[in-house]
Amino acid sequence: MSGDRDLYICYNEYLNTYMKSFFILDCDEQKKIADSLYGYFVGITANQKPNQFWTHLNRKQIKDYLSIPNLELTKWFDSLGLKIRDMSFTVTTDKIKTSPHIDEPPVIAKINFPVLNTERTYNVWFDEFGKEIDRVECLKPIVLRSNIMHTVEIDDSAVLPRIQFSFCFYNEPLHLLK
Ligand SMILES: [Fe+2]
Repeated sequence: MSGDRDLYICYNEYLNTYMKSFFILDCDEQKKIADSLYGYFVGITANQKPNQFWTHLNRKQIKDYLSIPNLELTKWFDSLGLKIRDMSFTVTTDKIKTSPHIDEPPVIAKINFPVLNTERTYNVWFDEFGKEIDRVECLKPIVLRSNIMHTVEIDDSAVLPRIQFSFCFYNEPLHLLK
């Protein structure tokens, strides 16, 4: 199947040349949305403390949250023309961390939303040789490319636990990375 592999390498080279690693989004209600997501996180984790970096929410959990009336998050995604496909959150503590990785396909463009203690923590991207190509402090929501090596870097002065939500969509916001 070397043809398929060549095509894949070609496609990735195309993406690397023409796409940014991230794009910072303006969100007028960022604090309100973060507070709401934090409340949701507290509810979900009340009886089950997260013991891994990633927690994927199931359909019912996603539906329960999105059916809250007048949700600022829904209004914001509506204004961006995005329909949520999946929601997850990441927690960093002294014991839970992540290392450089590529997210599961097929999603390429996700939105990360900072919720708690994301100051002095950074999304960092690497090329295929492990050389850093981009970094951004996690202060605002971003669209990010998740199909190239990336990680979250935590400065020694950062406060833990750090919580961030991550969303992917039926219609990926790829145009924002061009
Ligand atoms: Fe990731």
